[in-house]
Amino acid sequence: MSVLNNLSHYDQFLRNTFHADDAGLERLQAEAKQEGLPPISIGPEQGKFLQLLIQLNGATKVLEIGALGGYSGAWMARALPSEGKLISLELEEKHALFTRRQWAALGLADKTEIRVGPALDSLPGLADEAPFDLIFIDADKNNYPAYLEWALRYSKSGTVILGDNVSMGGRLADPEHQENPGIRGMRQFAEEMAANPRLVSTVVPYADGIAVGVVK
Ligand SMILES: C[S@@+](CC[C@H](N)C(=O)[O-])C[C@H]1O[C@@H](n2cnc3c(N)ncnc32)[C@H](O)[C@@H]1O
Repeated sequence: MSVLNNLSHYDQFLRNTFHADDAGLERLQAEAKQEGLPPISIGPEQGKFLQLLIQLNGATKVLEIGALGGYSGAWMARALPSEGKLISLELEEKHALFTRRQWAALGLADKTEIRVGPALDSLPGLADEAPFDLIFIDADKNNYPAYLEWALRYSKSGTVILGDNVSMGGRLADPEHQENPGIRGMRQFAEEMAANPRLVSTVVPYADGIAVGVVK
């Protein structure tokens, strides 16, 4: 979810200089809006960050949980080599159809695949494709601890595991919101990312906080 809606002059400079969407990504976002998809994708800053991590660890196999309209997936698939593959798990058929169409229009069809259904039903079927080089979690927050378990199972040394929206719009550590299942899930996820002895991890503060861990 991008919360950088009111950009400072400096943030705008950074976006224009380092992270701007090109025409294809702008079209994807405009059509997502027209089709009524919720405006909860990552922002271009995080898209570029994901690309950077893919380049850094030489990733060829990427798993995403939560595709929405394929925006983050497009950033990641573009960073993959021609033999690379992104598998994205998505609950909603409507989102998956939109995403497939967009990825094809961006020339990414050969490197991408989307599987429809609750991610916890799809994950057990991915054993043959594992281990992944990078796993990006960006779906229902109450299930983040379970997604982390699967991510660790499907990792090897050097795998990067990410989870978006750690801040939960500023509510993560707010005493008034601790009964919310999404907040509880995210807190547990963050605590496990921090404490798991297999991981070296931190939270990068942009935009809504993105947890990043590398498997030792
Ligand atoms: C924040 S959006 C993903 C945004 C996308 N990663 C991007 O930045 O372009 C979350 C997505 O997760 C999907 N989702 C929610 N619950 C899910 C579940 N149990 N299994 C798979 N996908 C789920 C939603 O339908 C939605 O499309």
